[in-house]
Amino acid sequence: MGIKQIIAIASAKGGVGKSTICANLASHFAKDFKVGILDADIYGPNQHILFNVLDSKPEVKTIDKKKSFIPIEINTIFLNSMGFILDNDKAAMWRGPMLSGAIKQLKDLTQWGDLDYLFIDMPPGTGDAYLTVAAEIKPNYVVLVTSQSKLSVHDTIKSKAMFDKLKIPILGIIDNMSYTISTLSDDHVSEYPPLNLEVEIGLKVLGSIPRSKDLANFNPNELSPLFEPIYNELAKITS
Ligand SMILES: Nc1ncnc2c1ncn2[C@@H]1O[C@H](COP(=O)(O)OP(=O)(O)O)[C@@H](O)[C@H]1O
Ligand SMILES: [Mg+2]
Repeated sequence: MGIKQIIAIASAKGGVGKSTICANLASHFAKDFKVGILDADIYGPNQHILFNVLDSKPEVKTIDKKKSFIPIEINTIFLNSMGFILDNDKAAMWRGPMLSGAIKQLKDLTQWGDLDYLFIDMPPGTGDAYLTVAAEIKPNYVVLVTSQSKLSVHDTIKSKAMFDKLKIPILGIIDNMSYTISTLSDDHVSEYPPLNLEVEIGLKVLGSIPRSKDLANFNPNELSPLFEPIYNELAKITS
């Protein structure tokens, strides 16, 4: 059976919440499906930190004279990460072809087993190296993460153009950290002037996630209800 669906969580900009969203969505999917996460952010791998397996190392086995990685299993999620494999300081100096080659190898050489979903926590970017990474990983779908900041919206339009060029379908955007919920009144307090993201970017908004203390401190053993509607929607479109 192999891997049924690969979903890349992407944004041109760093710091908009890709890793946080990837960890939360994967945790929701793992209730009902077999799930893996590939942390492909060579410059700032984070999933091993979010899932508290910082010091783990995937076992390396040689099968048919080929090296293969046994992913770390955490809360029924299979995880492999550039963070397990690489010396961060060296990775930062890698050039495009080495970078995309390493990510492709990590994906191909990991013994994922049969998965319903493999989530890819993508590095930020839109340049040539990024195009290669996206093309080689061959995700079935992409989810773009943005905030309502002018800069993030501008970069998300660039990401959309890139994935359109690669003919990788974009399921929609997740609007992250554009508002907070008032502790006094439960009102939504926007951090930006009103903006219609669907009109600006031309993609469906899958949901809006507030800036919240709970999400800033991801707990792998607790599902955040904030992601429930987005999970239901994504599971419906992709299964
Ligand atoms: N909805 C949110 N509420 C509060 N903090 C968040 C939220 N989403 C992300 N963060 C925080 O913002 C920072 C950047 O998020 P991260 O997931 O690392 O982004 P990226 O992977 O796009 O670089 C992290 O410190 C993270 O904990
Ligand atoms: Mg990240």
